[in-house]
Parts: sequence; structure tokens; C-alpha cells
Amino acid sequence: MLDKLKEFEEEIKGFSTKSKEELEQFRIKFLGSKGLIKALFEDFKNIPKEQKREVGQKLNTFKNFAQSKYDELVEHLNSTSTNENECEDYTKPGFPFEFGAQHPVSLVINEMCDIFSRIGFVVKEGPEIEDDWHNFSALNFPEEHPARDMQDTFFISSKDKYALRTHTSSVQIRVMENEKPPLRVIAPGRVFRNEAISARSHCIFHQVEGFYIDKNVSFADLKQTLQYFAKEFFGKAKIRLRPSYFPFTEPSAEMDVYWGLETETDYRITKGTGWLEVLGCGMIDPNVLENCGIDSKEYSGFAFGIGVERLAMQRFNIPDIRMIFENDVRFLKQFSAAF
Ligand code: DAH
Repeated sequence: MLDKLKEFEEEIKGFSTKSKEELEQFRIKFLGSKGLIKALFEDFKNIPKEQKREVGQKLNTFKNFAQSKYDELVEHLNSTSTNENECEDYTKPGFPFEFGAQHPVSLVINEMCDIFSRIGFVVKEGPEIEDDWHNFSALNFPEEHPARDMQDTFFISSKDKYALRTHTSSVQIRVMENEKPPLRVIAPGRVFRNEAISARSHCIFHQVEGFYIDKNVSFADLKQTLQYFAKEFFGKAKIRLRPSYFPFTEPSAEMDVYWGLETETDYRITKGTGWLEVLGCGMIDPNVLENCGIDSKEYSGFAFGIGVERLAMQRFNIPDIRMIFENDVRFLKQFSAAF
């Protein structure tokens, strides 16, 4: 009996399998109702009395050993077989890749860049932290001049040397300083103003700056370019230019698009006038060209600056500008089909 136990123990120790069928054979052979262990217990009856205690103990230990080996193999097989199945089932759906959405501000900026690139404008960018020269002085804002108060500024260093740019017009200066005309540039970017936040204005927003410098650029060129933009972006061809003031353009104007007064919404967005205020523009002041080393007798140019949020709010019916900056996914998700 003890020899048999030793022999079986060796066999069990050396047994391993990856197949459920083989494991079942193992169970039947050792642990089944007609298996070897059952037979050993039968034989145990014939063991002489004086050996019963020792053999009985060994037999029990052996039985437990066989059982735990079996349990262990079952567990191993179950854990590996489920993994294998997962890998093998190629019909199962893939990971849940969710499509994101482009931000409404990006959608509008991309569309504007696209529209202007079709008539030869190239995209340029500048830094969000600007020095006084690029944000103000070179743009013909004299020091201590009240025009500087038009734009409440976030200064970030003592003596007002550096500030968060208040407009993308600073990019005009950077490009003009570094490149020679003819220049046809569009400059989208984020700008900052120290203003109270409300449903209609925010301390952070975006602008798209545009300018064109060449020989003989005229106000008529400006008007045609803006009309083209209005037609492409709004699908509306009627624009008007109202006289305005900006230090860096002379003459200066603001452009409105005729929107109509057909619906309640038209009334709301045009404040009952039928006209939608869209951008500021003008002929680049000769002082600005000279500040950047461009001969104002040889070259002239026009420039314009468009507020992006206002267009995005109008395009997507967004009632409150703050929604644009809160990054609430319930808001952002709505734009997943908008491009
Ligand atoms: N920089 C102006 C602003 O932020 C917008 C602007 C007006 C830009 C006229 C221009 C321009 O280039 O010609 O209010």
C-alpha cells in the first residue's frame, strides 16, 4: 500500500495539463467514484491492525493532496481559458473609442482661416505675453494717450513693461518687422482684457486679425475683401461700413452685416436694427508702417480684427459667453457633429 501511495504521489506531482478533457480524465482516475483513491480505501480494510494508524494517516494525506492538486488545476484552467477566449473572439466590439468634438471657437477660427486662405492669406501667430511696443507703442498708441484706456490691460510686470496682449493687432507688428511686403496675413489667437465677466463679455476671448500690405492697396480692396468674407461666412452679401476710431488705422471703420428682421431671433441678435456688428477695420496708419521699417510712400495696407466668440455665439445660438470657457462636456459634446 505505501509503495503504491508513493508511486501515485509522484505521478500526481508530475501531472499538468492545459486541456479540460485531460483534467477530467485525471479526476476520474484518482478522485472518481470508481477511482484509485476509492480502491485504496477499499484495500485499507485488509491492512493489518498494527499498521492501520500509520497507513490511514498517509492515505488521508494523499487523498487531500490529490484533491487540492485537482482544484488548483481547475482554477488555473478557468483563468487562462477566459483570457484566451477574449483574445480569440475577433467578433467582439473594440474598445469604446468615443469621438471628441472640436470646440466652437476652433470651429469658427478654422472656418475663417479657410475662407481667407482661399484668397491668398497665410496664417501667422504671435505670443500671448507681449511687450508694450508690440501691443501699444508700435500700433500708434502714444504713451499716456487716452486711447490706451480703450483696452483694460492685465500687466504682468512692474513698470508696465509686459502684459497679456489685449488684441491680435500685435501680430501685425511682429510680422511687418520680420517680413517684407507684399504681406497677406491672418492671425488668430487668444486675447485678454481686464473686464468684468458677464453673459456678453469675458476677460479672455479670441480674435482673428487680418492685414494686407502691398503697393496701391486701397479702401476699395478692404471693402471687397470684407464683403467676400461676409458672403462666405454668413451667406449674406450686404455690408455697411461705419466711421470709427482705432489708433493704428486711418481712416477706421466698423463693419456690419445686414442680417434682416424676419424672425424673433433676428430681432434679438441685431438688437432690432437688422444689422449685425462684426468687425473693426481700416487703412493701416502710415506711422505704423514706418514703425516697422516699411516705407509708407511705397506701400499701403488695410487691416481688420474680428471677435471670434461673438460669431460663434451667433452661429451656434450660444446665449452666454461664459459657456464657451467653462468646458462643461455636456456643452462641448453638442459640437461633435458640427464639422
Ligand atoms: N484691435 C482692435 C480691437 O481689439 C480690433 C481691430 C480694429 C483690429 C481695427 C484691426 C483694425 O486690425 O484695423 O478692438
